[in-house]
Amino acid sequence: MTASMTIQPGKPLKGSISLPGDKSVTHRAIILTALAEGVSTVSSYCRGEDCLNTMRAFQALGVRIDESPDVLQVYGKGMWGLTEPTGPIDCGNSGTGIRLITGVLAGQDFFTVLTGDESIRRRPMGRVVKPLRTMGATIAGRKGGELAPLAITGTRLKGITYQSPVASAQVKSSLLLAGLFADGVTTITEPRLSRDHTERMFSYFGIPFRRESCSVSIEGRPAVRWAGKPVVVPGDLSAAAFFIVGATIVPGSDVTIRTVGMNPTRTGILDVLLSMGAQIEILNPREEAGEPVADLRVRSAPLHGVPIGPELIPQTIDEFPIICVAAAVAEGITTVTGAEELRVKESDRIATMAAELRAMGARIEERADGMVIYGLGQAGRNGRLAGATCSSHGDHRVAMSVAIGGLTATSSTVVRDTACIDTSFPRFESKLLELLTESSKGL
Ligand code: S3P
Repeated sequence: MTASMTIQPGKPLKGSISLPGDKSVTHRAIILTALAEGVSTVSSYCRGEDCLNTMRAFQALGVRIDESPDVLQVYGKGMWGLTEPTGPIDCGNSGTGIRLITGVLAGQDFFTVLTGDESIRRRPMGRVVKPLRTMGATIAGRKGGELAPLAITGTRLKGITYQSPVASAQVKSSLLLAGLFADGVTTITEPRLSRDHTERMFSYFGIPFRRESCSVSIEGRPAVRWAGKPVVVPGDLSAAAFFIVGATIVPGSDVTIRTVGMNPTRTGILDVLLSMGAQIEILNPREEAGEPVADLRVRSAPLHGVPIGPELIPQTIDEFPIICVAAAVAEGITTVTGAEELRVKESDRIATMAAELRAMGARIEERADGMVIYGLGQAGRNGRLAGATCSSHGDHRVAMSVAIGGLTATSSTVVRDTACIDTSFPRFESKLLELLTESSKGL
């Protein structure tokens, strides 16, 4: 992981681009097409390593998946067609991959070991292992099942009613997937609604479930089977977020991003940026595979700090690194509270973003559940960071956020250890160059 990226500030971002498919939707598309009866296509999918690892996991579980750069052809084996892999399955850097696949495997009639990279082996797995054990699952792992690798001896599961202490789509989805294989009804209630891609894809494939505010119930076993069909994955709003903030904070920018997922459980970034003063137009709204999409036009604008409280966290959770960058150059103070989940992401994102942005001249105070960011902007104008040599801490979203911050800096910025960007956005640097080059054309 030694790659690095050098960012030269000074040019606006201009032009129109499309972005990789949504990572969350791609994971779910692979899982549900693998369990469908017959062939499906998954197009415009995310080719980040996280999703490729989920694809390889299902190939190891006996599902034929033909891969081309634009489309996956998945030969679904039905609910009961998976077979025992001959070795451990490596989920790489992906929390979604390992937690969702654990849910699927808990109810099979074979044994599997799931593992991942160094970051994944540090992240909490007890949040899915404990409720799955209540469903009857036999799962062993380091520290009593708190940490991967996880060894799963598939068993016949029974439905449970579970009150999750965290608003986590990974927990909810893991239990819903296990619930498909369980006797009776599985109900999960979460404190706030997390992203609902699993539920939407259930609807798209005709898998019945019930939703009542923050509770979802599913009836498993003979009641369910579904046929393969084409899935078109929307563009990833979490990837778009880097260019939305980039275009907002670099003066003179004007960027259009085509076909971006607009699922309301994900669009907190737009609400936050609009409340900070951003100029974002939502154009041509439509629907693809049960998910709302639109084109976004973003022009540069001066930002001001805002409070971001617990009610906004679930629908903004992956965008905090880039929100920190926006807040660091805005005028006034941004406070983030109720965001302790940030500490158990690919890195501890409160600590890593505070460290890297401080190295770039920002004023940030860490709190246990968030941070206070004193923006550098003044007199109705955004401020500028200072160029620095920064580290990604092996976290793709930290790497891309720091790179975008570098566009506003007073000198060049080097981001070290950028190979991790491939987990979600393999062509990030070339897309950024595309927008910077477009801006040179008119000169
Ligand atoms: C995801 C859920 C979120 C998010 C992650 C993707 C998903 O994690 O941070 O990047 O696809 O379900 P949590 O469920 O841990 O909040």
